[in-house]
Amino acid sequence: MSQTFKAIKYSKPSRGGFQLKTFTVPTKLQDDELLIKVSYAGINPVDIILYQYAEAFNVWGEEWGMGREFSGTVVATGSEMEFAQGDRIVASTKSIKETQSAVGQYIVIKRSGWVIAKLLDNVPADIGASLPLSYMTAVDILNVQPSITTTPDSKILVLGGGTMAGFYTLQLLKNVYNVHDIYSVQSTKTDKLYAEKFNFKVNSINYDTETRPITEVTQEIITNTFHGEKFDMIIDTIGNSDFFADIGSFLKLNQNKSYVTIVGDSVSVYNNTFWQHAKLIWGSIYRKITNKLFNPGYHYAYVMMNPTDENLVSGVKYLSEGKIHGLIDSAYSIEKFEDAINKLASHNAKGKVIIDLEEK
Ligand SMILES: NC(=O)c1ccc[n+]([C@@H]2O[C@H](COP(=O)([O-])OP(=O)(O)OC[C@H]3O[C@@H](n4cnc5c(N)ncnc54)[C@H](OP(=O)(O)O)[C@@H]3O)[C@@H](O)[C@H]2O)c1
Repeated sequence: MSQTFKAIKYSKPSRGGFQLKTFTVPTKLQDDELLIKVSYAGINPVDIILYQYAEAFNVWGEEWGMGREFSGTVVATGSEMEFAQGDRIVASTKSIKETQSAVGQYIVIKRSGWVIAKLLDNVPADIGASLPLSYMTAVDILNVQPSITTTPDSKILVLGGGTMAGFYTLQLLKNVYNVHDIYSVQSTKTDKLYAEKFNFKVNSINYDTETRPITEVTQEIITNTFHGEKFDMIIDTIGNSDFFADIGSFLKLNQNKSYVTIVGDSVSVYNNTFWQHAKLIWGSIYRKITNKLFNPGYHYAYVMMNPTDENLVSGVKYLSEGKIHGLIDSAYSIEKFEDAINKLASHNAKGKVIIDLEEK
């Protein structure tokens, strides 16, 4: 008798929303395919955003997959694959519109459509699932200007060190590139969590307890701690525009320095409709165009994560060596998938929200 499995699918919010469906585990694979028994799937803001986009773009109501990253064990391989049955792997899709669901007990992936890395023995499967998107985003942020981000003397301000992308960015800066002067805008809760769980500390500006504007506190750091020297780079992983009105007071101008964002001018509301998100993206495109046209003395970059095998392999290696740590906020069963989505959308997740697909 054929074996079945469950996975979350959707076509668009107005057509029944997320659906827990039953499928048959395939018995035949193409040469370039892997069949994987999924252990954990990571949930990301982009999953909610794409679900909302489906309302406008999934014109024919096709069935789309949910989830873009997972850890699991290879069950069967096509003849051209470099992986073997029993390998523990972590993977992330390269496609914007993914038809396979990472939030499912089994998944078939095509080699050309996914980045894949073997999980090293000392990396737990749940931590592996928390890695791909957030870690590879951090790598791409730091690759905008490696001359700054890999230089220990650089002065770097991170807005949103409490996000997963922010946490990996901070860890790479501090533990891999040995940058000394890192400041992070994050809550006291985040300070406490990083310190207690990982003994990881950076200089923080606590936006939850600070009564003055963050720009004023930053100005004070420049004057009193840096003796007037400004930042070499501002990295925004949460969405902010506070610094632009007087950017020359915070960032060294006319010295090829960068302001790098992965969100845009304001905190993203993941459940917004496509048109509301489009406004946020257009704000960044406008800023990019005016930055090019009027040359304000710094480089503005909006980073879109570009997954590569090489970056994913480096993340697993750093996890295994203890140079970076993954962080899990909470794990939900596939039946409680919508609770996981709501937790992520609350902006209160402290670490990755994952779906537990292991049989207990
Ligand atoms: N462009 C890309 O390729 C790309 C890739 C990945 C993610 N993103 C975007 O990056 C953003 C972060 O994603 P994520 O998954 O890393 O986030 P996340 O882990 O869900 O972020 C949650 C954290 O955000 C922090 N936070 C909430 N409100 C804040 C505020 N007003 N100021 C500072 N920190 C705040 C909180 O930490 P505290 O307790 O410290 O406040 C919370 O723990 C999302 O908008 C996502 O869409 C973009």
